[in-house]
Amino acid sequence: MSYNSYKEVYERSITDPEGFWMDASQAIDWDTAPSKALFDKGDDLYEWFSDGMVNTCWNAVDRHVEAGRGDQIAIQHESPITHSTKGITYKELQDRVASLAGALRMRGVEKGDRVIIYMPMIPEALEAMLACARLGAIHSVVFGGFAANELAVRIDDCKPKAIIAASCGLEPNRVVHYKPLLDDAIEIAEHKPEFCVIFQREQEVAKLVEGRDFSWHGFQYGVKPAECVPVEGNHPVYILYTSGTTGQPKGVIRHTGGHLVALQWSMKNIYKIEAGDRFWAASDVGWVVGHSYICYGPLLAGGTTVVFEGKPIGTPHPGVFWRIIQNNRIKSFFTAPTALRAIKREDPEGQWIDRYAKHDLQAIFLAGERADPDTIEWAHKHFGVPVIDHWWQTETGWSIAANPIGIEELPTKVGSPAVPMPGYQVEILDEGGHKVEPNTLGAIAVKLPLPPGTLPNLWNAEDRFRKSYLSQFPGYYETGDAGMMDEDGYLYIMARTDDVINVAGHRLSTGGMEEVLSAHPDVAECAVIGVSDTLKGQMPLGFLCLNTGANRDHAEVVREVVKMVREKIGPVAAFKLAIVVDRLPKTRSGKILRGTMVNIADGTPWKMPATIDDPEILDEIKVALQTLGYAKSEAAA
Ligand code: COA
Ligand code: AMP
Repeated sequence: MSYNSYKEVYERSITDPEGFWMDASQAIDWDTAPSKALFDKGDDLYEWFSDGMVNTCWNAVDRHVEAGRGDQIAIQHESPITHSTKGITYKELQDRVASLAGALRMRGVEKGDRVIIYMPMIPEALEAMLACARLGAIHSVVFGGFAANELAVRIDDCKPKAIIAASCGLEPNRVVHYKPLLDDAIEIAEHKPEFCVIFQREQEVAKLVEGRDFSWHGFQYGVKPAECVPVEGNHPVYILYTSGTTGQPKGVIRHTGGHLVALQWSMKNIYKIEAGDRFWAASDVGWVVGHSYICYGPLLAGGTTVVFEGKPIGTPHPGVFWRIIQNNRIKSFFTAPTALRAIKREDPEGQWIDRYAKHDLQAIFLAGERADPDTIEWAHKHFGVPVIDHWWQTETGWSIAANPIGIEELPTKVGSPAVPMPGYQVEILDEGGHKVEPNTLGAIAVKLPLPPGTLPNLWNAEDRFRKSYLSQFPGYYETGDAGMMDEDGYLYIMARTDDVINVAGHRLSTGGMEEVLSAHPDVAECAVIGVSDTLKGQMPLGFLCLNTGANRDHAEVVREVVKMVREKIGPVAAFKLAIVVDRLPKTRSGKILRGTMVNIADGTPWKMPATIDDPEILDEIKVALQTLGYAKSEAAA
């Protein structure tokens, strides 16, 4: 196809969004077809396909059985940690999901009820998601690397009727005790679920609370399988919490109709995956990538999806990804740049890559953080297939910008996640909200309405939704990312404009970490910044000012706050670095100059802020950072 074809597709999505998305909606089985695509609710709120009736699980599972794909593998579980590999066919998946949904229903779970899912990378996690979707219950999956307190915050926010969890998760060197974490979370939370369903893993069998907890299998014994319950196109299929500027996470809502249409479109046009194809996203069901492209996207397309329980390195070697690609004849593979960096560090010459057949591998997709050119070039050199950086967020649920190889493969520009996807009118704005010239840095905003599949609102927090995304640039969605667009319409994503950092592809709030540090009795004031890290992209680093008279050993305080962050937020925060300083650099109005501290730490050029209160403090910060091995190069002041 010619270059024009992406252009044609994109332009039609902008000039005729109704026609474009109504056409795309044909790929979904509706119980009642929607009368139109876009529903303008007024006051900058939009919904898609609101009056259609549809079921997500039907589209992801049952319709493929009906179409004769019952014997095809739907989910392939690859667990190098437990040395096991197991496939589940579409027919088996249908039976298992209908049975779990039937049991949930028997215990009173109905359309609209919330169900929290706290599970590791096992097929049962996807089954739990699909069982909720089958009933029209709204699931909220919580990532296993979060601590009990984070789980409790989510329990109190979405008030689940039930929680589905596993007895344990498995990290390479330790068992993650999910059940005790769950018990603690329920203890901390004000809201109490009516019941819990626990999938007992053989690696750790958990103690159940009499009358509240049921075992996965016993719970389903003898129940009537549930059929798919049609829901309105604007019924939420899930809530997924993500980090914002404060410790209180944002509950991103995903509406059913738009989610189905957008994901189905993306599988074919971005990932070039059709029914019968094999697709693997090496992420976790706790993140948006896991929702969209481990669970829903590949199953909607009638493909085979891989659920991977392991790490890119050390389980047991840096060739594990390539072995799975070979054994499952993966066509499109999706991972985070940090995973490739980890592999590249152990296998710079690609010797592990050469040991395995690539078969049908057609492209490698990267997202979750900025993909550095070195990593892209290394992967391209060793695989000889397109290595495609694409940019998206929990909020959008699918890519804002990508190279849609299912339509045509556009020329790659290293450092750019390519061009906007249909329906995304991306603009780069200056502080006053005016469009800037090509190649000029600014805030990246998307003109409203956003396309189907993106967030229509935040759970129980419309004010916060408006404040976080809509108020800065009226008529636009503010992405929170800064960057630029070149004259060919290619985007470049440079940094976040808020207090969100990205550690190993995991999105974290420095504000949330600061809240934990401030709770230490000896800490008077603190700041957390994200410093550059060659493996994880960014790492959090805390600055602590102690109370006058707190005559404490600094190293001991640092150890205490590191432990606190692990206990309150979880190991995933990877908070290991902190330093005690006398003062923090601030503007005259008292705002901490975090951005300048990041520049000093990374040794990148910076300008003395005109509004700084006391410039000398920056020298003290630099000296402190040097003791940790940062702020090495002499940047212009
Ligand atoms: N449950 C419980 N704990 C978890 C967890 C989970 N699901 N995932 C991570 N953790 C823990 C880890 O065990 C580690 O704990 P530790 O401090 O005791 O070692 C901590 O959280 C930090 O984990 P991580 O940042 O993943 O670092 P790592 O050193 O274990 O691994 C990489 C480094 C690069 C191999 C790993 O980060 C990786 O594979 N990243 C890719 C991430 C990804 O795919 N993101 C998807 C976004 S699209
Ligand atoms: P999450 O919501 O966890 O998916 O994180 C979204 C954020 O990750 C975005 O706002 C970006 O800051 C960053 N991000 C995701 N993909 C990319 C990418 N391809 N390039 C640069 N940054 C990215």
